[in-house]
Amino acid sequence: MDHFLYRDGALHAEDVPVAEIAARVGTPFYLYSAATLARHYRLFDEALEGLDHLVCFAVKAASNLAILKLLGDMGAGMDVVSGGEYARARAAGVPGERIVFSGVGKTREEMAQALAGGVRQFNVESEPEMRALSAVATQMGRTAPITVRVNPDVDARTHAKIATGKAENKFGVPISRAREVYAEAAALPGIEVVGIDVHIGSQLTELAPFEAAYAKVAELTELLRADGHDIRRLDLGGGLGIPYERSNAAPPLPTEYGAMIKRTVGHLGCEVEIEPGRLIAGNAGILVSRVIYVKSGEGRDFLILDAAMNDLIRPAMYDAWHEIVPVVEPAPGVAQARFDVVGPVCETGDTFARERMLPPLAEGDLVAFRSAGAYGAVMASEYNTRPLIPEVLVRGDHVAVIRARPSFDDILNRDTIPEWL
Ligand code: LLP
Repeated sequence: MDHFLYRDGALHAEDVPVAEIAARVGTPFYLYSAATLARHYRLFDEALEGLDHLVCFAVKAASNLAILKLLGDMGAGMDVVSGGEYARARAAGVPGERIVFSGVGKTREEMAQALAGGVRQFNVESEPEMRALSAVATQMGRTAPITVRVNPDVDARTHAKIATGKAENKFGVPISRAREVYAEAAALPGIEVVGIDVHIGSQLTELAPFEAAYAKVAELTELLRADGHDIRRLDLGGGLGIPYERSNAAPPLPTEYGAMIKRTVGHLGCEVEIEPGRLIAGNAGILVSRVIYVKSGEGRDFLILDAAMNDLIRPAMYDAWHEIVPVVEPAPGVAQARFDVVGPVCETGDTFARERMLPPLAEGDLVAFRSAGAYGAVMASEYNTRPLIPEVLVRGDHVAVIRARPSFDDILNRDTIPEWL
């Protein structure tokens, strides 16, 4: 459920007509609903009720400071994967003890930054990383709390580019070798083992792969405890999918996911962390764009928008399907036409949708891409020197631009022409 609904024939974000915001901000832009973000965070929090738990928002999904502050103020922790994301979480007011640091290639600088600023734990992904962290922490006179990310060799049955839990993926250490890795961790100075971490992929649409992975983690918990490790925390990663296509079977709900977590690891008495990103932010954001031209091609018509692949790369990168709706509600029963929906960038990959049935649309009309709140703005680039598009947040009838559109000067001023040229 989200808060982007038609009211009196006009698409609204909560209480505000989307067209009004478009008139004020200009298109294209990302638009988020605070109520939807809050609701999705709460769903996860409530789903884990009864367990000692922390819902750590995966900052990579939507990293605007306003979004992080909104969630952080509700008690959310943050899952960060870079020094930049760590800085964002802290700038949004999230204390270090609620920040987990994930990622397969943390640098020593990033480790030092998080150790100095405070961190809940590092989710360590390899032995070389663990040794580096030990050296950095020891040098700083600190102890780094860690989990080891284990790779359970489970097929997440999602898009290959976002599956992470198979043995051939670059992530984590093979679960079969976990005991030796923990033995080394226990012996390293400056390292304190606090738990186990797992994350098998993103946009999972069924519980079975999670359950298989978590069952392996439960088993490993018992083994590691028998080896003398104080396993008191389980980070179960993120990955629960969202319904991009309404006609498809809906993925499991956070309540069902939470019940499965209780079933698989609840008996262990561990504190449980999860790292959802997409399910919190995905349906809490839309991308609003304007039709520049309607062009008739050979056997098909093109809807050329002012948004492009640089603004929303998911269709080009993952063949992702985003629902596209007109901002003015179509009359009931109106005849639909087939369009290829494209952006102005000079590559064929700049195609949002092929042969999409849409209600009549004309030059100047506004459209919205649904489910664009996660991995939308954060993956945008300035390819073709198209400025990063603004982000806008709505709460009730409040509207705020939470990232302004840069001017061409802002962009050009980042470049330097050497004086010897
Ligand atoms: N934790 C870790 C360690 C992760 O790698 C990820 C996502 C998450 C949590 C959050 O997963 P989520 O709950 O959002 O599924 N750009 C891609 C998605 C990449 C996901 C990468 N890792 C897309 O647009 O589909």
